[in-house]
This record gives sequence, C-alpha cells and structure tokens, in this order.
Amino acid sequence: MLSPSELPSRSEWRVDSWKEFPAKQQPTYLDSAEFQKVFSRLCTLPPLVSSWEVDKLREQIALAQDGSAWLLQGGDCAESFDECTSASIASKLKVLLQMSLVLIFGAKQRIVRVGRIAGQYAKPRSSDTETQGETTLPSYRGDLINSAAFDAAQRKNDPWLMLRGYERSALTLNFIRSLSEGGFADLHHPEYWNLDFVADSPECERYQKMVASLRDALDFIETISTNPFPELRRVDFFTSHEALHLPYEEALTRESVRGTGWYNLGTHFPWIGERTREIGGAHIELLRGIRNPMGVKVGPTADPDEIVELVRLLNPDNMPGRITLIHRIGNGKVEQTLPNLIEAVAASGQQVLWVCDPMHGNTVSAKSGHKTRKFDDVLGELRSAFAVHRECHSRLGGVHLELTGENVTECLGGATGLSEDDLHTAYNTTCDPRLNYEQAMEIAFSITNEILKP
Ligand code: PEP
Ligand code: CO
Repeated sequence: MLSPSELPSRSEWRVDSWKEFPAKQQPTYLDSAEFQKVFSRLCTLPPLVSSWEVDKLREQIALAQDGSAWLLQGGDCAESFDECTSASIASKLKVLLQMSLVLIFGAKQRIVRVGRIAGQYAKPRSSDTETQGETTLPSYRGDLINSAAFDAAQRKNDPWLMLRGYERSALTLNFIRSLSEGGFADLHHPEYWNLDFVADSPECERYQKMVASLRDALDFIETISTNPFPELRRVDFFTSHEALHLPYEEALTRESVRGTGWYNLGTHFPWIGERTREIGGAHIELLRGIRNPMGVKVGPTADPDEIVELVRLLNPDNMPGRITLIHRIGNGKVEQTLPNLIEAVAASGQQVLWVCDPMHGNTVSAKSGHKTRKFDDVLGELRSAFAVHRECHSRLGGVHLELTGENVTECLGGATGLSEDDLHTAYNTTCDPRLNYEQAMEIAFSITNEILKP
C-alpha cells in the first residue's frame, strides 16, 4: 500500500482522478466502445437525488453525532432487478418505518431513516471465480454488473446493466418518495400499524400496547391543536448503497448548480466497503471529493491509526455529519477490538457517528451449505457494541442491518426459533442472509432496551 506521502497530490481532485489510483473489485468490460456508450449516456441522465436532500441528510447525521438522533440503516445485502416490485419495496419501507416507530416511541429518539435501497446493485466478492462441480465461472458481482444464474452467458459483465440499474434505482426511488410523502407514511394510515407478526411472537403484545398508547397520544395532540404537525403525515427517507462500481459512481457525481461543490447524486449516502477502503485506493479518492455524508465499514483487523488517517483524508475540515464509521466486527470480538478504535478516533478530535453493523462479522455456513447468521450473534454483537461505547464514554448512534420486510428464512433463531432445517423454505437472497420481518422487529425492541439503559 502507498503511504500518504507517496500518493499523487491529493489536492488535485477531479471527478475522474480516481483513475490514477489502484481500484479493487472493478469489473472488466471486453467491449470498451460499448462501455463508453453506456457511460456517456449515464453522464447525461438526470440525477436521482438532489444536493439539497444530501445536505439535509448530512445535517441530520450531525444531529445524531451530537446525541439528539439515531441512525437506522437497513435493506437487502444486494437488491435484485427482479425484486424491483411494488410489494418488495413497500414491505421494506414498512419494516423500516415500523422499526423507527418503535425506536421513536420506545427510546424517545429522533430517527434518521436510511434504506440500503434504490442502487444497492454492486457487490464486492472474496473470489473472482465460483466453481460448481467441474465448472468455474466468474463470480456474480451484483445485477449492475452480471447475473446471478450459474451460466457462462449470464455471468459475463454487461455494461448495459449499469443503465438498467440506474433505471431500477429511479423506479424504486419514485415509489419510495410517493409512499413516504403521505398515505403510507401517515401515522393515521392503518397500513402503518398493521403487524404481520405471527400471533405467538412475544413482541406482538408489546407492539400492540405501544400502538394503543401512540393512538391515544395522537388523539390528544389533535384535540388540543388546530395545527397538527406535518411530521405526523410524512417521513424523511434517504437512500444508500455501497459506492463500489467506480465508473457508475463517477457518472452520477455532478457539480451542484448552486456552486456548493460536487455531489454523488446517485444516492444520498454512499458507503465504502471493508474491502475497498485502503488509503491508497481509488474508492477513497473518488469519495473524498464529494459533499455527501458517507459511511466507512470497519472490520475486525482495522488498524486504529489507519482509520484516523482515513477519516482525516475524507473529512479534512472535520465537517459535522460527514463521516459515519460502521463497525462490523463479529460477536465475541467487539470487546477486544472496538475500544482501541474508539479511543484513537476520540484522541484525533475527528467528529464521527459510530454505527454497528452486526451482520457482516457473523456470517457462517449451515450444514446444507446455505450462508446464514445466527440471530443471537447479531443481537450479541449489538449489545456488546452498546456496552463498549458506554464504557469508552462514546455513543453508539445507529445500526446498519441487512433485512427484508418479508417472511424469509435466511437467518437462524429469533422468537420463532428458525432452525437449519427451515432455511431452504424461503431462502431468497442473492447474496448475504437477511433478517426477516419478525427478526427485524425484535431487533428494534432490543435496541430500544439498550438505548434506555443508563
Ligand atoms: C455489505 O454491506 O453488504 C458488505 C459487503 O459489507 P462489508 O464491506 O462490511 O463486508
Ligand atoms: Co452483505
């Protein structure tokens, strides 16, 4: 790895200066003329979000850094083009809204809602190839790049998929915007309250009680006020995805018409993955030049000094709300690893929001070969993260989850005790295992308990 002094001058950021740095996890396209055609087209298409929205999210994350809000980020590991459906989008929005309701009402926290949605189409892979039996093919890298089916033609990188991904992102975002602006996200709407829990879930009763108190509170507010708050009828909902595929991210990075600099307008909140966050790398170069708030994943082997260096590089002016460090360490390892990271960042004086991703350090293989995660490991890592932050006089300010609003069978355990034998029944993920609706709601209640601890 290059040390900062050996890097090309960092002051000369351009939207394509990332090309001067080594880029990991990038697809190669055999037909470069075809790639160029798609890239040029993408550069001319309208942005998906506005710089005003991006600035608003940065301000909200700054509030979370100050302790007056909490970040809830969640969605698929990898979105798929086939799942760009009304039901799938609505159910993801619904579970995130209901989780945030639990947190707002239970933990008395303002919630910043961010979906892993409307662009989470590119995946880093630990191996370039996948072998099944006698056949070895290129790995699936997400619908933005190739297709999941184990077939030579489907696994070929196709530049036109970037355009399909942009379009799916726009369709998804359009539906999210209309749902979050009223009706569906209106606290008076019954859909908001419906709980599709199985009746024997221990959290069902707790949720119903909470809903009853909330209804009373709403009635009270509307009785005494002739001017009810707009917040009761709509919500802010932001999008995020891993900024992995650099040409795609470059094409959506635009200079603001109001002269406030460059923004990635393909999403509100890009994040840099654990595998592509090295200081000398192209991903850091592209992201350091934009104004968006951004996440950086931090794994168990991260060097605290390097993380501090990285935060400085991405946020030289120590701008509030800009950097969210998302630690994903693994249950049982948090106590040993996290304090050094927290202390190094605190000593540097850099402002960050600390968020726990209790998913990516807890992936295991079931006997059947399914990639899975144990609910207890997810919860265990989350609880340890809360405890360690408290001990270090720091604050855990959010959670980053892989979840779906549907009744999938991808993670083990939870109140219904999903077992290895159940995994095959609704194992629908194209990448990592997600919490199902009920497991996600259980996590929301557990987070509430943790936040309320003195
Ligand atoms: C992910 O969030 O899906 C992911 C690949 O995470 P990480 O970079 O933390 O491994
Ligand atoms: Co994942």
